[in-house]
Amino acid sequence: MTGTTSPEDATALATARNLASRWDAQQTGYIRHRAERFDTIARVVAAICADSPTPRILDLAGGTGSLAEHVLAAVPNGRAVVADKDPALLAIATDLAAADPRISVAEIDLARADWTTHPSIADTPFDAVISSTALHWLQPAELVEVYRVLPDLLRPGGIVLNGDHLSYSGHHEPTLAGIARADDEQMQRETFSGDTDTWDEWWEAVATSRRYADALRRRDEVWGSSLHEAPPKVTLGFHLETLRSAGFAETGTVWQYLDDYVLYGVTAP
Ligand SMILES: C[S@@+](CC[C@H](N)C(=O)[O-])C[C@H]1O[C@@H](n2cnc3c(N)ncnc32)[C@H](O)[C@@H]1O
Repeated sequence: MTGTTSPEDATALATARNLASRWDAQQTGYIRHRAERFDTIARVVAAICADSPTPRILDLAGGTGSLAEHVLAAVPNGRAVVADKDPALLAIATDLAAADPRISVAEIDLARADWTTHPSIADTPFDAVISSTALHWLQPAELVEVYRVLPDLLRPGGIVLNGDHLSYSGHHEPTLAGIARADDEQMQRETFSGDTDTWDEWWEAVATSRRYADALRRRDEVWGSSLHEAPPKVTLGFHLETLRSAGFAETGTVWQYLDDYVLYGVTAP
């Protein structure tokens, strides 16, 4: 931020930073090794971008931009687009971006075929497309479509990295499904018995800030009744097979803790 910052801008930035830090704490309550997941993604992106003078990174369903910010710490000469559907999370991301000109935001819906035409995204290629705790919100057919268009957004030798909870199947993997569920419950008990916001408490905190009142109204309109409708789960195998079918030359995983994975696809050189 420049020396001409107004008191109003400074207050907006402080509010956004407070909510972003509470968001990270809240998300970590649901994802035990979120920081390690982010570090792994950041290291791999930094290696992929080592020879790019101005690496371009796209954070899909990036919310407040936590992952983009983390990756840019490892890729200081990079630029990141935080693309998301949620107007409230993007309003916070926009306030944060005022302090970091490397970050821009794009309001898009990954379930719509036209999301790649957003001006910030159509200006390809990207070196890396990253995502965290988000693509499980897409219907399987929507996920297939998103993966299908990614090679066209990436440069040759570019990478997609997706960190997400790919839940064990209670039917085929009941032992590990039980262990992972118990581990999640323990993490949530430990985290939320203290001062850390739960998901609902965090959204109540956003609602106390007049700055985000309009964005919250738009949030209701944008999501409607679909906000809490969880799509069917898909497996790691489904993700990797879909990436291969989309044309990625190399696919696999770079990190795993129980059913929490970071999976990747690299485009042909
Ligand atoms: C749990 S949050 C994770 C946010 C961020 N990636 C992080 O790790 O902090 C899930 C995100 O997915 C976004 N999302 C869900 N469905 C989406 C869609 N169809 N298009 C774009 N974003 C979507 C939500 O708005 C939300 O920001």
